[in-house]
Amino acid sequence: MGWLLRSMNSSIGKKFVMAITGSFLIIFLIVHLIGNLTLYFGPEAFNGYVETLDIIKPLIRVIELVLLLSFVYHIIYGTWLWIENKKARPVSYKINASSENSTFSSRWMFWIGSIIFIFLVIHLSTFFYRFNFYDPEGLADQNKYYNIVVGFLQMPWYSILYIIAMIILGLHLHHGFQSAFQTFGWNHKKYTPLIKAIGRIYAIGMAGAFASIPIYFLFFYGGSQ
Ligand code: HEM
Repeated sequence: MGWLLRSMNSSIGKKFVMAITGSFLIIFLIVHLIGNLTLYFGPEAFNGYVETLDIIKPLIRVIELVLLLSFVYHIIYGTWLWIENKKARPVSYKINASSENSTFSSRWMFWIGSIIFIFLVIHLSTFFYRFNFYDPEGLADQNKYYNIVVGFLQMPWYSILYIIAMIILGLHLHHGFQSAFQTFGWNHKKYTPLIKAIGRIYAIGMAGAFASIPIYFLFFYGGSQ
């Protein structure tokens, strides 16, 4: 057990944990997006999806625990790596012409991640809280989950916050995806350009598809019949 903790605590070990937790979050986002896209098919589809989650609640609780641990590890180690990098290169950006050595998203990874963290706090305190702990009588109708989400997404400040957060999420994913592959050592002259292309498609696809939801409910939605 000691060797495991020691290797997790080494610099490369920390990067490895970042890559593993990041990979789990990458997969979670795909599943989360598929669930959220049912919003386009109306109240029945979305409530059906939420009720299905309810049926497999014990499994969902386990996934949520892994998700929480992944987020906590990812945030703590991400911050640690950022501090270590700063200590190692205190004047880096002045003399290193950093734009030549790293992409915009990699240089800003810590700050971009911090904004996503703020988004997550707002996101969970509205949807996760309301879905799980808040049940006022007025919302006891059969479309309540759909109505909660659509109600929030029709508020301009809330929806615009989501749209901005999704663009920032795209930048984070763009760098994170490639970085995870590098950490796992899957670096190959032939395949690295392909991995980069997949990372770009994934980041743009995720950000675009997630952002399309608030855009639709803010600007194009005419109410459910
Ligand atoms: C348009 C964008 C999004 C919408 C409409 C949306 C909607 C929702 C809803 C309705 C829930 C509550 C589900 C439940 O508790 O059963 C939820 C939970 C959650 N969302 Fe989102 N979400 C969006 C984007 C995101 C993004 C980008 C992230 C991560 C960066 C994220 C992370 C989470 C997490 C961690 C949970 C708790 C998961 C769980 O308890 O199973 N969401 N979201």
